[in-house]
Amino acid sequence: MTQTYLLALDQGTSSSRSIVFDAGGHVVAQAQLELPQIYPRPGWVEHDAREIWRTQLATARQALAQAGITAAQVRAIGITNQRETTLVWDRRTGAPIHHAIVWQDRRAEPACARLREQGHEALIRQKTGLLIDAYFSATKLQWLLEHVPGARTAAEAGELAFGTIDSWLIWQLTGGARHVTDVSNASRTMLLNVHSNQWDDELLALLNIPRALMPEVLPSASLEFGSTAPELLGSAIPIAGVAGDQQSALFGQACFSAGMAKNTYGTGCFMLMHTGQRFQQSENGLLTTSAAQTTDAPEYALEGSVFVGGAVVQWLRDGLHAIRASSEVQQLAESVPDSGGVMMVPAFTGLGAPYWQPDARGTITGLTRGSTLAHIARAALESIAYQSAALLGAMSRDAVAAGGAPVSELRVDGGACVNDLLMQFQADLLGIPVVRPQCVETTALGAAYLAGLASGVYAGKDELAALWRAERRFVPTMAREQAQSLMARWEHAVAQAVLQPQ
Ligand code: G3P
Repeated sequence: MTQTYLLALDQGTSSSRSIVFDAGGHVVAQAQLELPQIYPRPGWVEHDAREIWRTQLATARQALAQAGITAAQVRAIGITNQRETTLVWDRRTGAPIHHAIVWQDRRAEPACARLREQGHEALIRQKTGLLIDAYFSATKLQWLLEHVPGARTAAEAGELAFGTIDSWLIWQLTGGARHVTDVSNASRTMLLNVHSNQWDDELLALLNIPRALMPEVLPSASLEFGSTAPELLGSAIPIAGVAGDQQSALFGQACFSAGMAKNTYGTGCFMLMHTGQRFQQSENGLLTTSAAQTTDAPEYALEGSVFVGGAVVQWLRDGLHAIRASSEVQQLAESVPDSGGVMMVPAFTGLGAPYWQPDARGTITGLTRGSTLAHIARAALESIAYQSAALLGAMSRDAVAAGGAPVSELRVDGGACVNDLLMQFQADLLGIPVVRPQCVETTALGAAYLAGLASGVYAGKDELAALWRAERRFVPTMAREQAQSLMARWEHAVAQAVLQPQ
């Protein structure tokens, strides 16, 4: 029997990766190339879009070669990508008019402040599910139109194309034939009406963005994305699945129904909870976002992010020189039975959901003469779990307010989920099982699954849910009173972080 393969392209903030999966969702081969970061000014972050394309294509070719297969053996391609990152290119030449403005870039904050002052918060939240923030694409796009000479005139004449990174990759892969995006990526622009899945004319007018710039919006599983130009990979492959990386991970974790949640432990942490077909506004500081959609019917998720997750380990290494390699953190943290009352709030760049305190700063509390570097390392590691627990608490409160049940299990993925100490502590704090799947490449897997659904490899989501397998379940062992008193200490430390003099 001939094997069926799916190729996932995973274009992240720091690297481009490609993974070949078999139909059982197993990794067959993978390739990765780093992506250079460009920091033109404090608070600004850019990518060279041509480097994004060059590295992505190179890894796709490497992954196919490593798998020992040809493009003809790949049923379909799935694309997943860093979200919000904003690019404009010339439709005729394909040349970007400027570097891509990366999601972390804060240059559009003054434009956001104006929108808030003008009182547009409620309208934008109701239509897009988002809070007004420079994180999203809309005000980045506005900045490009205002600062790149000739951009606005060319945009109004229909000569330019806007896209998030999925659109850019599809444009390149199809030889400029398709200018499209999927709903999950579109929902991060602050320009999509997430109820109708259409660009919102009122928001486009408010931000003075010509409609001629915008890509066509498709469901996340679709045969309308186009096919790769045959010369790129050897023969044409249909692009059949597309989703923003966090929604893709939610899909790859088979979280398809209301109340199912996942947390990705990367540099930051991204927690998403599916809310079914119900658009729900958080009462607890979370965003509403479009989940990956396999039909035209809208599906939603609540999302919260921790800005400094695994990055706290990098700080232990590069800032404190407490460890030489990130992998040493578990051993150092495990050399003490607990943090000895030390709490660390790594609010290096402020605090995100559910606190939303941009001016908070990193804080260590509870130091005594007996405190050692090991206690600090343990507190640093535990801070990832505390922040995630605060997010999950907010999600559960929202779920209950909407008449649902609190989250009963958390599925985990991302680099730091391999840390058993951290996962056990997470389960202890939450009081619910934390479950690590056999395949932790869930971001890429989600895109592969979406492509597999659209191209007929899978009959439906039930088949995908059956493929999801736990590798390890971390069951809470700590008494609830102890967990609650630890969370109370955490909240006390957060209050100190918020009070930091500037
Ligand atoms: O919202 C930003 C997110 O999509 C970036 O993810 O994995 O590239 O850091 P990542």
